[in-house]
Amino acid sequence: MTEASSPTPVDPAAIDYSGRTCLITGGAGFIGSHLAEELLGRGARVVVLDDLSTGQLANLERAQTFRTFRFIEAGVGEYEDLEQLISDADEVYHLAAAVGVDYVVRYPIETVTRNIFPTERVLELAAQHDRPLFLASSSEVYGRGSASRMRESDDMVLGAPDKTRYIYALTKLVDEYLALAYHRQRGLRVVIGRFFNVVGPRQTGRYGMVIPRFVTQALRGGPITVHDDGNQIRCFMHVRDAVAAIIGLMNNPAAFGQIVNIGSDTAITIRQLAERVREATGNHVRIEHIPYEAAYGSGFEDVRCRIPGLDRLRTLVKLGELRDLDSILRDVVQYERSRLAGSDEPDAELPVAER
Ligand SMILES: NC(=O)c1ccc[n+]([C@@H]2O[C@H](COP(=O)([O-])OP(=O)(O)OC[C@H]3O[C@@H](n4cnc5c(N)ncnc54)[C@H](O)[C@@H]3O)[C@@H](O)[C@H]2O)c1
Repeated sequence: MTEASSPTPVDPAAIDYSGRTCLITGGAGFIGSHLAEELLGRGARVVVLDDLSTGQLANLERAQTFRTFRFIEAGVGEYEDLEQLISDADEVYHLAAAVGVDYVVRYPIETVTRNIFPTERVLELAAQHDRPLFLASSSEVYGRGSASRMRESDDMVLGAPDKTRYIYALTKLVDEYLALAYHRQRGLRVVIGRFFNVVGPRQTGRYGMVIPRFVTQALRGGPITVHDDGNQIRCFMHVRDAVAAIIGLMNNPAAFGQIVNIGSDTAITIRQLAERVREATGNHVRIEHIPYEAAYGSGFEDVRCRIPGLDRLRTLVKLGELRDLDSILRDVVQYERSRLAGSDEPDAELPVAER
């Protein structure tokens, strides 16, 4: 499809999943667990395959109340019955991956082993059994970023290999190339979603995600630690809107063979975000700026500005009005408050460098 041809956008709210079986890899994680609940609520049988490396069973508490839900604890690369799972499913959502700037900088080897071979295995089996596939990619593939909106047809500008964060982008790019190759050569019905800062309850701050990290810091009495000058620009999308986008894409045949940005295009600086988090928690804590080096060691390079172009997504999916930052922060603050109330590990959510 070119940008010029315009398929009818699919309304995700109108999609019924009764009678369908969905396999979600990485479904005990943040986005996967919300997706699992949504699909179950719409009548699907859902199977989650997750090795709990960064995800957790607690995320699946609600999903587990459905009799149509099944959880398998195993790695996508190693699980022997993966072929059976894929052939038994009507569709597959491949979300399992090594995730988070902090994780990637600390564990570059695991980033490669988790993000390439398991994806290749899923692609091959989905192609063999002709199962539609959603593949989770990332805005990280755009690399250094630019002042303007990032569009799916843009060139990628990655930093040199000694800038550690780009290893994640590279693995996700390999996944994207592989997925498109399976689409072209083998007719695989695959849609690639490039997520831009999807946030909400259950996201952990442990691997460098900014909103849960700021909220946890504020709730614990501060300071909120902003990396560098805080003028980095980001856009945040509520996970429930991201799940709607995934559902819309998977139910629009025009999306197959496409790469599609999934995010919000309302921009904010990280310093402003810290201030909004402070307001949302009602705790008037200090905001402190720390150099990247203190957080991630030497050789770290940040992306200054990241705003998605959403034309392609809106052509394919009827998204409606997205939830705003106030609503996101309300949900995250409420979630973190109750999580912290039940936690006896006070610093478990902070990246190692900031404990
Ligand atoms: N949250 C975002 O803003 C964002 C941004 C860009 C891309 N993504 C992508 O979306 C997907 C989901 O991310 P998330 O934010 O929910 O992160 P997450 O860490 O909460 O979820 C990833 C899940 O995959 C599991 N996992 C990892 N490797 C596995 C393996 N080999 N076998 C089985 N399970 C495995 C983890 O235990 C975890 O539950 C990932 O592919 C990620 O790269 C997310």
